[in-house]
Amino acid sequence: MGTRRFDPAGPLRGTVTPPADKSISHRAALLGAMTADPVTIRNYLRSDDTDSTLKAIQSLGAGVEGTEAELVIRGVGLHTAFETTGGLLDVGNAGTLMRMLPGWLAGQPGGAWTLDGDASIRARPVDRVAEPLRLMGATVEAREGRFPPLTVHGAELMGLEHELPVASAQVKSCLLIAGMLAEGQTAVTEPRPSRDHTERMLSGARAPFVREGRTARISQVDELELDDVVVPGDASSAAFLVAAACLVPRSRVVIADVGLNWTRTGFLRIAQRMGAVLLGDLEEVGTVADAEPTGEIDVAAAPLVGTVVEADEVPLAIDELPLVALLGCFADGETAVRGASELRHKESDRIAGVVDGLRALGADIEGTADGFAVRGGGGLRGGSLEARGDHRLAMLGAVAGLASEEGVEVVGVEAASVSYPTFERDLAALRK
Ligand code: S3P
Repeated sequence: MGTRRFDPAGPLRGTVTPPADKSISHRAALLGAMTADPVTIRNYLRSDDTDSTLKAIQSLGAGVEGTEAELVIRGVGLHTAFETTGGLLDVGNAGTLMRMLPGWLAGQPGGAWTLDGDASIRARPVDRVAEPLRLMGATVEAREGRFPPLTVHGAELMGLEHELPVASAQVKSCLLIAGMLAEGQTAVTEPRPSRDHTERMLSGARAPFVREGRTARISQVDELELDDVVVPGDASSAAFLVAAACLVPRSRVVIADVGLNWTRTGFLRIAQRMGAVLLGDLEEVGTVADAEPTGEIDVAAAPLVGTVVEADEVPLAIDELPLVALLGCFADGETAVRGASELRHKESDRIAGVVDGLRALGADIEGTADGFAVRGGGGLRGGSLEARGDHRLAMLGAVAGLASEEGVEVVGVEAASVSYPTFERDLAALRK
């Protein structure tokens, strides 16, 4: 396991283009594989997670050619003539692939596939996709009923009206994909909005799809017509650089070509509320659109005040909540996150990882069943933070180091390559 020290930094300055969006890359490759005509994806993310998706679709018979600048997917069609009607698909560390792909496989009568991944994937529940897919007619087996490996036996599916118990873009996406293969109509209702990249891409691909408030409805369809996709920069990856610029005194950083879809920019709104000087053309909350808006964020360090993040905001900032805790360490007063028990089921238990990790660096932080509370203002001393194989904890430790008094040693820093292979280089470029 690699260990790297991140020392306190002087002002961060410069412009960075973040890596391509991981969520949109997964979706473009998967929906590209479901499209009969070739689809070109520009700026596809090359990372461990999105490479797993390319390997999976290749195992299913799709062709993948070109480079990340211009990747061509030669899909097999929605109702496929898969090259194989069974086998083992390795999702690596990719939770999005583990939850979205079964939606497609479940609608392929006669096929049976087993999805498996690394130790972290094996600890992440899949019952929230397995149960509705069973109700639609597929046979789905999981270890202890809820963990990978997950075996999906395809079937003729029936449409389903399903209410998600917890907002999850991955589960919603799985069921919308299955809905395209199911007789009649499938409706998925979320308790609160989560990222809507699948909906935008499906509308763009002329799928029979409508959105009514928190419900997305899709009908059976023969084929998808996905146009070429241009993947914007990843707002979640960018958030680590934004947090660094918020915390290191006298910093001023511009993030270029980043996705500004409102379902992904919750963290930016939280940081603004805490006092960060952050300018950008954020998409208006509640916008229903097909296109993915992109733009620039200009962020400058400023004194911060504590804030409370409640359940409604959680899905819009789900992967950035560790950074809210970090900002909270430097903010006046208390910062609390509630209604985020989902964090316990990410690449690691992120409530435990954040609370133990930041406390070891000197934070006054308590974990709760569904979040955490930080009494801030004192900053962080520094020390050592264990990434626990979780890319977002590795990057959290690095940013904490830059803002700390004595620096932070991140154990398992290589985990960052799951979503942001050039993270260390981009951070270093801002220190010059
Ligand atoms: C993702 C959705 C989120 C997020 C994950 C990627 C996606 O999970 O945490 O990193 O691409 O759909 P849930 O919405 O399932 O909580």
